Amino acid sequence: MTKPQVLIAGNWKMNGLGASLAEANALAGSLGQTTARVAICPPATLVQRLAEVLTDSGVLVGAQDCHAEASGAFTGDTSAEQLADAGATLVILGHSERRSGHGESDALVAAKVQAALRAGLEPIVCVGETLDQRKAGDALAIVTGQVRGSLPRELAGNAFAVAYEPVWAIGTGLTPTTPEIEEVHRAIRAALLEMFGDAGRGVAILYGGSVKPSNAAEILHADEVGGALVGGASLKADDFLGIIRAA
Ligand code: 13P
Repeated sequence: MTKPQVLIAGNWKMNGLGASLAEANALAGSLGQTTARVAICPPATLVQRLAEVLTDSGVLVGAQDCHAEASGAFTGDTSAEQLADAGATLVILGHSERRSGHGESDALVAAKVQAALRAGLEPIVCVGETLDQRKAGDALAIVTGQVRGSLPRELAGNAFAVAYEPVWAIGTGLTPTTPEIEEVHRAIRAALLEMFGDAGRGVAILYGGSVKPSNAAEILHADEVGGALVGGASLKADDFLGIIRAA
């Protein structure tokens, strides 16, 4: 099993209006040759329009969450099938802002992963410890526990990525040291190999949390880092390009 292609995904979170499509267009126009796969995950309201803007650009469109069911009486929710129908090809699942703000458990994340697979979406499954958990020396146990609990066996044979996002590094400007990132990524790789055998080697493990152009090269070249999940810095085409170019 060869090394997975690097994936640089922008998570716009609850940011972006129709006017933001111009930023994505600017990114696609300046991207040129890159060895990385590049994706933008806008809010659900923009998935369809972004997919139209980015047709044939090589930039993929992802969603930020999906419901575990395909359809039904779930007011305000969006299914994986609907997101795929709107033009998404990837979906972020289990982001810490979903786990903490919406009480999402590993079991629910795993059910959403199954829903994504059913709809043909490639899941990017997020894991990460809080600062208290890191201070208590529990980071590796928490993260590998989330990996085991959030990745259903059905993923075997399907394309997916795992994103390590330490909760304390998200939107704070703080990042773990490179050895700290490598320690967690190696532990995630070991868990993937245990769960999926040799195929676990082909899963990209992204890092997320305060990635910016100035720290992207060091992070992206760290051992077992197979890409980045970028929040704030993905909102500006120039910053996001700076990160992509560092890959
Ligand atoms: P920031 O890059 O803004 O820290 O956000 C990271 C993140 O949560 C991406 O999913």
